[in-house]
Parts: sequence; C-alpha cells; structure tokens
Amino acid sequence: MSLDQLVFQGLRSLQSLKMAPSERINVIHGDNGSGKTSLLEGIHILGMGRSFRTRHLKHVIAHTASSFTLYGSMVADPPVTLGVRRTRASSELEMRLKGQKVSRLSQLVEALPIQLINPDAFRLLEGSPSGRREFLDWGVFHVKHEFLSIWKRVRRALKHRNALLRHGRIEPDLLSAWEHELAVWGDQIDRLRQAWFQEFLPVFEDTLQALLPLSGLTLRYSRGWDKSRSLADVLIQARKSDEQMGFTQQGPQRADLKIRLNKQPAVEVLSRGQQKLVVSALKLAQGRLLESITARHCVYLIDDLPAELDVQHRQRFCQLLEQMQCQAFITSVEPSALNDVWHAATPVRMFHVKHESNGESRLLMEE
Ligand SMILES: Nc1ncnc2c1ncn2[C@@H]1O[C@H](COP(=O)(O)OP(=O)(O)OP(=O)(O)O)[C@@H](O)[C@H]1O
Ligand SMILES: [Mg+2]
Repeated sequence: MSLDQLVFQGLRSLQSLKMAPSERINVIHGDNGSGKTSLLEGIHILGMGRSFRTRHLKHVIAHTASSFTLYGSMVADPPVTLGVRRTRASSELEMRLKGQKVSRLSQLVEALPIQLINPDAFRLLEGSPSGRREFLDWGVFHVKHEFLSIWKRVRRALKHRNALLRHGRIEPDLLSAWEHELAVWGDQIDRLRQAWFQEFLPVFEDTLQALLPLSGLTLRYSRGWDKSRSLADVLIQARKSDEQMGFTQQGPQRADLKIRLNKQPAVEVLSRGQQKLVVSALKLAQGRLLESITARHCVYLIDDLPAELDVQHRQRFCQLLEQMQCQAFITSVEPSALNDVWHAATPVRMFHVKHESNGESRLLMEE
C-alpha cells in the first residue's frame, strides 16, 4: 500500500500542495515552521480522520481559507482514492473512498493503515493506558476482521451497563442481560487480543533486538480484569462497588500493554532516546506483523526522525524501515542528518518545504 499522489488544499500553511511521493522513502526537510509536520498531519487525517496535534480539526484549516480538502491516491489496480473535507461551517468530516461518500471512519482506516512516530512517541509508554489500548487494537483491527463488530457489541453493552449503574434504581433483570452480553463479547475481544499479542511479541522482540538490544525489557498483555476469574463473575461481584463509582471498573475497556524493564515501569528507567527507540520498535513491529500476516504495508509518518537519536541508532532505524518495503514520510530540519543511511538501491525522494513571506508554504521536489 503506498500513496503515489497527494493534493492538499487549505491545510494550515500548506494552502495548495501537490506531491508525487516515492513508493518507499520520502524525506521532507525545511526550517522550523515551514510545514513539515503539517504535511504528515494531512496524511494522518486522510487515513485516520483525526489529527495527532489537535482534537479540533477546525484549527487545521488555513487561517485564510474556509475549508480544507485532502486527497490521496494509492497504488492499486484500479487505484484507490481517498478524500476528506472539513469546512468551518460544519463540525463533520466528509469522507470519500474510491469516489464514493463513506460514513464510517473504519473504511478509511482499513484502506490506509498508518503508523506515526513523532517526538511525542514516548507518551505511549508514559501516558494513560488508552494510548496503548489504541495501539493494541490497531493491530487486532487490521489482522482480525471480526474485531470491529465484536468491539461495537462490547461498547454497546458497556454503555447500557454504565447507564444503569448511574441511574440509581437498578432493574436486576436488565442489568443481568447487559452483563451477560458484556461477558460474552468481552471474552471474545480478549481472545482476539491474546491471539494477536502472541504473534506480535516475537516480532517486537526481534525488532527491539535490531534497534536497541535491552536485556530485561518485557512486554505483557493485561486483559483488564482478574486473571483467575471469568468476566461474568467479576461483573456480578463488582456490582456494588461499580454502582458507587457509577461505571464498570473492570473489563476489556481496561486492557493494557505493560512495558517493564527489570520489573520496573520502562518509562521510569529509560532515557528519552531509549524510550523513542522502544516505541519505534513497537510501531515498526506492528507494520512487520501486518506485512507477514496480510501482505499489506502500512504507511509510516516519522516526524523529526533524527531528534534524540545518535548516528548509529538513526542508521539502525533506517535499515529496519528499508527492510520492510513500506512507504515512509520522514521529516528532518537538516537533510544531512539522513545522508548515508540508505542503500543505493532504495528509492528515496527528497522534498524541501519553504515558508514564504505571505504565510504560505511551498513544497519543492529535489533531484
Ligand atoms: N491554521 C493555520 N493556518 C495557517 N498557518 C498555520 C495554521 N496553523 C499553523 N500554521 C503555521 O504553519 C506553519 C507550519 O507549521 P509546522 O508545525 O508544520 O512546521 P514544521 O516544519 O514542522 O516546524 P518544526 O521544524 O518547528 O517542527 C507554521 O509557521 C505555523 O505558524
Ligand atoms: Mg514539526
């Protein structure tokens, strides 16, 4: 899966951008504030329906424009086109796939699998479990096709159970019915996640070994409720305390990935550069597993690759990317930081973004 054409309009300072990326490595360089991250942000919105910089897509619309429109075409026979549009007047993101309007974001996500590695990447280790759960479910979603419909049932059962808990006067039959539903589908989600994790773990360990051999680092999947009891039992026994809290405290909605170094949370022990490498190993492993199971490739967005990494680790990172046959969009302030890291045979295209005096940015392809 690779993008061979991008056309953006009204995206921050990239008011009018046309880009013909290489199917493999694309290096985008430019001064601070020139528009490098915005370019990655545009691809992210195209494939994920949201930005990684803001929760409000209206901020992404160029100050002088009334909307942004992003279009991408992917190599396939026939080509797969994707488009999204957001106007100031509406809070909705209009989405198109293969020329047809689509209403479900999962359709875009499925068409354009994206992995982002940016200077905030360490938050995956440091932040709340929701980011790690999202990472886990990205993997499960792309390789286990039944995931989405089961997850929707879990969410629905959870929503109803929580509403009953908050309601105060609980009708036991209704509560039992939703608990049964949650237990059945929650078990299924756990099984899918476990199966994915068993395949993921060796790929992650291999990737980490190539990037940053760290003895004592462990990755564990935690399902979100007591290991020794069934979810059905846990829900029944937790009724009173859940009622006091007003929500369901245990279940698949609390799943997590535990990353530890010699039994301590990895984030407490690792340096910033090491954290970036561990997170990079997690994200590269996602793509490698996707390739090995589905023969599909994800598109990597790597913002400021050289930041925090020494020359040797930059080289290892780039070698892994090269081996993966995936498409990557890599930004760097200094293009020289990524010289001499690619094999001669790898297709690399260089782009330069320039911020002009009128506030607009221009993208130039370099020979
Ligand atoms: N809604 C907007 N409309 C127009 N310009 C915007 C908007 N939002 C941000 N900008 C400008 O867009 C420019 C591009 O920012 P971006 O973060 O993409 O730069 P960058 O090249 O990644 O910089 P750095 O190297 O510092 O990370 C900035 O100059 C910023 O002021
Ligand atoms: Mg930036």
